[in-house]
Amino acid sequence: MSRSINLAVIPGDGIGQEVVAQGLKVLNAVLPQDVKLETKEFDFGAKRYHATGETLTDADVQALKQHDAILLGAIGDPSVPSGVLERGFLLKLRFLFDHHVNLRPSKLLPGVATPLKGQPEIDFVVVREGTEGPYTGNGGSIRTGTPHEVATEVSVNTAFGVERVVRDAFARAQARPRKKLTLVHKNNVLTYAGHLWTNIFNEVAAEFPDVTTDYLHVDAATIFLVTQPERFDVIVTDNLFGDIITDLAAAVSGGIGVAASGNINPSGEFPSMFEPVHGSAPDIAGQGKADPTAAILSVALLLRHLGYETEAVRIEGAVSADLAERDSTTTRTTDRIGDALAVRVAS
Ligand code: NAI
Ligand code: MG
Repeated sequence: MSRSINLAVIPGDGIGQEVVAQGLKVLNAVLPQDVKLETKEFDFGAKRYHATGETLTDADVQALKQHDAILLGAIGDPSVPSGVLERGFLLKLRFLFDHHVNLRPSKLLPGVATPLKGQPEIDFVVVREGTEGPYTGNGGSIRTGTPHEVATEVSVNTAFGVERVVRDAFARAQARPRKKLTLVHKNNVLTYAGHLWTNIFNEVAAEFPDVTTDYLHVDAATIFLVTQPERFDVIVTDNLFGDIITDLAAAVSGGIGVAASGNINPSGEFPSMFEPVHGSAPDIAGQGKADPTAAILSVALLLRHLGYETEAVRIEGAVSADLAERDSTTTRTTDRIGDALAVRVAS
């Protein structure tokens, strides 16, 4: 049987360019001979915006749609006003391709430094809703720019949107050894959305009797992510809470240099997009200082999503071994880390 992967590659801005090159290097090294990898690079980001004023056109969307998956570096640059690329490219694509499952695993690997005391066992996955909440652009302002400016940013929560992401999270929890799912919300204060989430969570729970359930308010969750991170297995939460707690999760489990994510369309109707959690890091861009590990682990998530479990595990094993042998006194360039991982996955 001949297999193929038709991959759209969006290096983007800043270190996105540097880390995606390493991700592709490792992808090429890990794939067996019989898998045909075809890549097409897209030039989205600040440069294209300055040259043409475009962020993501209809033709771009049509072209991206033809691919099995998308590998993204990072989009964003200080030369572009805040929000233009985030809304005009990143959020637009997540909405158009219905990336309603935003998957962010956190695992503290041996030898990796954490700001937490001791070496707590951290191995959990956050399933963040990706298409609703306060991120839909459902708001506006009046008397803008005056002392009487009024601004709204309304959180959108639909039974349909909540149920599908909650169901996905239950299935992911069921497939893991600990089978535990924690709902994170703020249902004591955000009562309308909170009740919708809580009720649907409890309804779906009845269909997964082997999954242990738990509930935490988001503020309490930030405490436990620091004091008792081992209590988490799978977390399901809304778009905004998920955005915030996954940065905290990354900080306690090895840092932004190793945090990977997937923007997933579970039905496969549109390509899913995999990217490091970090941004374009303009402060270190072009210097070979970026850690490509997060991008390389995103490639592992991409492979797992496409059914290449063996290859995903090989990448994760290589990263694990590489991290265990890293010592803090010598720093390797982006390229050298990529080379080392490419060698490990190939052998
Ligand atoms: P950032 O993640 O780019 O950088 C935060 C800090 O972490 C910086 O000090 C940076 O040097 C460091 N850092 C990030 N990735 C690293 C890596 N792989 N290795 C070593 N150090 C690393 O976040 P920031 O500064 O808030 O955003 C910069 C730009 O990136 C903005 O334009 C922002 O909108 C964009 N951004 C894009 C994202 C995306 O494309 N999904 C996600 C987050 C931010
Ligand atoms: Mg974020």
